[in-house]
Amino acid sequence: MPELCGIELAHPVINASGTYDAIAARKVFGDELLEAFPFSAFVSKTITPEPRAGNAPQRIWETPAGMINSIGLPNKGLEGFLVQDLPQLAELPVPLIVSVMATGRSEFARLVEAVAAREEVAAVELNVSCPNVHSGLIVGEQPAETEALLETLRPLTQKPLIVKLTPNIASPDAVAVAAEAGGADAVSLINTLKASAIDPATGAPALAAGHGGLSGPAVRPIALQQLRAVRAAVELPLIGMGGISSGADAAEFLAAGAALVAVGTESFRDPRAGSRIAKELETAMSGAPARVRALDLQ
Ligand SMILES: Cc1cc2nc3c(=O)[nH]c(=O)nc-3n(C[C@H](O)[C@H](O)[C@H](O)COP(=O)(O)O)c2cc1C
Repeated sequence: MPELCGIELAHPVINASGTYDAIAARKVFGDELLEAFPFSAFVSKTITPEPRAGNAPQRIWETPAGMINSIGLPNKGLEGFLVQDLPQLAELPVPLIVSVMATGRSEFARLVEAVAAREEVAAVELNVSCPNVHSGLIVGEQPAETEALLETLRPLTQKPLIVKLTPNIASPDAVAVAAEAGGADAVSLINTLKASAIDPATGAPALAAGHGGLSGPAVRPIALQQLRAVRAAVELPLIGMGGISSGADAAEFLAAGAALVAVGTESFRDPRAGSRIAKELETAMSGAPARVRALDLQ
């Protein structure tokens, strides 16, 4: 049975933060969702200390083999999350991982302390693709900032701390090494790649924010390359994601060194993608495709 830092999981497929609204899905699918939940753990949308409205529309733009989003982390803030969302997410039949982001170490600490103290929460994911208000630097782009953040957060909880890397730098493996040195328990990658599109109808940027983050199958080879580089650099368990749409894709990430995989953009196309990919992965890992290929040759 797969596990992450001691948390037992029914299969190796979880969701990517911000791409599956379990509370909305429960309203649509009712208790059927609880009986056949697509993922073996649920990662929340990233929460910030205060509520955020997110960016103005247009916030999503389809691209060949992917999409660019500039959603801008709309969320209810820490208090809203704890009071309104956490009780509902706690009803899910799988371990809960809460994703958090802040623009300073003390604010990050406030989030981690409050969230990790709740028994409903199994682990915390640190979304470090954000600027530090004091230095102006994106924490996850700087190994020293990442290590210092982990050194602040590590003493606050014994629950697993997962660092989600940004792919928008030359050496994400150096940030993974820093996260490991600071006391992280696991690393997840990749977040979205910086991207822009022009609306051909207007000649203006397609997204109101001017740019956003690319996800979906288009990013998969980049994710695999970064995963391989990080795998070579650290001992920590890795959660691999970026364009996974099938069990065969997931098998590639496991072969490249991931302990678990996460599915993001594919869930917008197929809300049951998590279960489908887990089933396809089981078949892929049992060697059935090879037998099927052999039958084709006869
Ligand atoms: C609409 C959308 C919202 C996202 N929101 C978050 C978020 O709140 N926090 C986060 O860490 N990553 C967020 N991501 C990034 C995904 O978790 C994931 O890292 C990325 O999309 C790559 O995986 P994929 O190609 O399977 O989608 C978001 C991605 C999309 C497409």
